[in-house]
Amino acid sequence: MRIIRAVLHEEVRTSDIELVTRSLEETQRIGADIGEGAEIGDLILLVGDLGAGKTCFTQGIARGLGLADYTSSPSFVLVKEYQGRLNLYHIDFYRLDDIREIAELGMSDYLNRDGICVVEWADRALDLLPEEHLLIKFEHLAVNERRLRFEPRGQRYAGFVEELKGKWNLR
Ligand SMILES: Nc1ncnc2c1ncn2[C@@H]1O[C@H](COP(=O)(O)OP(=O)(O)O)[C@@H](O)[C@H]1O
Ligand SMILES: [Mg+2]
Repeated sequence: MRIIRAVLHEEVRTSDIELVTRSLEETQRIGADIGEGAEIGDLILLVGDLGAGKTCFTQGIARGLGLADYTSSPSFVLVKEYQGRLNLYHIDFYRLDDIREIAELGMSDYLNRDGICVVEWADRALDLLPEEHLLIKFEHLAVNERRLRFEPRGQRYAGFVEELKGKWNLR
């Protein structure tokens, strides 16, 4: 992994990070670091075009959580559950027909359980999701290159991103 830069803001968002991965494996490795550092109740929102790497990244998170039986994106259902050190609730809004489906899904139920929530296509319902979260934006740069931008919202996630900066030697 080659780190491009840590983006520092004057405003509240003091600890955004940008980095570029040059393979699927690198993206999964970053995801695994997130999975290792995750705590109960964490909410991780993934945003980016089709093929940007959101599902690959979630596979990495699953590995970091020690989940052996992770399959794939829950493209045809709204949510898939996996049991591990912490449970993983993998949610995908790609096929969301109606915003009301989220209310029916009971997002807060998932967040108050014994695991973490990872939401693909979170931008389709950002207003309905808790304000405090770790937002990760994926951008397709080249065939095997993706830019990942981490935008923590709230103290828990600012702290988490600080930890990651240490781990990735960003400073
Ligand atoms: N650096 C990279 N990071 C992640 N995926 C990559 C990378 N380079 C190439 N790819 C490929 O891009 C695709 C990403 O697919 P996927 O994770 O399903 O995207 P999404 O869930 O965002 O639609 C995979 O086919 C993967 O092999
Ligand atoms: Mg996907």
